[in-house]
Amino acid sequence: MQQIKKIGLLTSGGDSPGMNACIRAVVRTAAFHNLEVIGILHGYDGLIDGEFVQMNAKSVSNIIQRGGTILKTARSPRFMTKEGMDRAYRQLSIENIDALITIGGNGTFKGADVFGKTYKVPIIGIAGTIDNDLFGTDFTIGYDTALNTVVDAVDKIRDTAESHDRLFIVEVMGKDAGLIALRSGIGTGAEAILIPESKNDIVKLFERLEKGRKDKASKIIIVAEGDDSGGAFKVAELVKQRFDNFDTRITVLGHIQRGGSPSCSDRVLASRLGFAAVEGLIEGKQGSMVGILNKEIAYTPFENAVKHIEELNPNLLRMVEILSL
Ligand code: F6P
Repeated sequence: MQQIKKIGLLTSGGDSPGMNACIRAVVRTAAFHNLEVIGILHGYDGLIDGEFVQMNAKSVSNIIQRGGTILKTARSPRFMTKEGMDRAYRQLSIENIDALITIGGNGTFKGADVFGKTYKVPIIGIAGTIDNDLFGTDFTIGYDTALNTVVDAVDKIRDTAESHDRLFIVEVMGKDAGLIALRSGIGTGAEAILIPESKNDIVKLFERLEKGRKDKASKIIIVAEGDDSGGAFKVAELVKQRFDNFDTRITVLGHIQRGGSPSCSDRVLASRLGFAAVEGLIEGKQGSMVGILNKEIAYTPFENAVKHIEELNPNLLRMVEILSL
């Protein structure tokens, strides 16, 4: 087993609240074990360009509560090419970095999988994305905070919707997964939730709008950006074509969902995963993502973490219909 002395640390893909808490945990755990940490700026792009900064216990002071990522992030098309990966590997060799910790989501781990296998670099990934769309962890860093942001925004929208007797169609993020929509929809008492994991949602929505209680002043429909209906604007158009009795408005929450101070749950999760990533590398683990399953730390090979998606519990959707009567 190769002895690790110097770890390269990067954040990649969409930022998520709690990434900084995770960076802090990695750096401090490494310091405890007398390992050096080199921060790599701008994700894989920074690895290719050698944007390296020395990190120590002090450089991660006072960041646990900050949103975003102090290491910056990027989506890197260059890292998907052989030239890009060759250059990245050369930078690692010049800097004598023996292992990598990458905090991110799907795209981050696909890249890490190919890079680690091709150049024999030990890599541990940490599940950091608001989408919660990775297999091998019950929760990803940032998901809980994003949900709270959505709930806060929709509660405010409900006030104005109720005052005007309006129907609001609110689009939330999640890429091709509907987890943010489903959970925030339950949490805000939405009248309907449209998610990619359930088909023909628009037909069901029409039925609900037809049969729904007429004495309800406001209606909130949460639409996942990846839903097959085509998003909030499309849904609003279809509702307008079919019904003439709704005063409809659209809100696309967008990147507000990725910002803000992380919730306590995200800070704890981030701390646990950062700590486990470093200790995992020391124990010889590599080529896998660290997550939490049933409250315990779990390491899942990259290829499994990105290929599968947890099935949604159909009972939850049934429950939404009953509770929003
Ligand atoms: O993966 C996180 C995420 O916020 C998705 O929910 C969304 O589809 C995507 O990133 C947006 O990416 P960008 O910020 O690059 O537009």
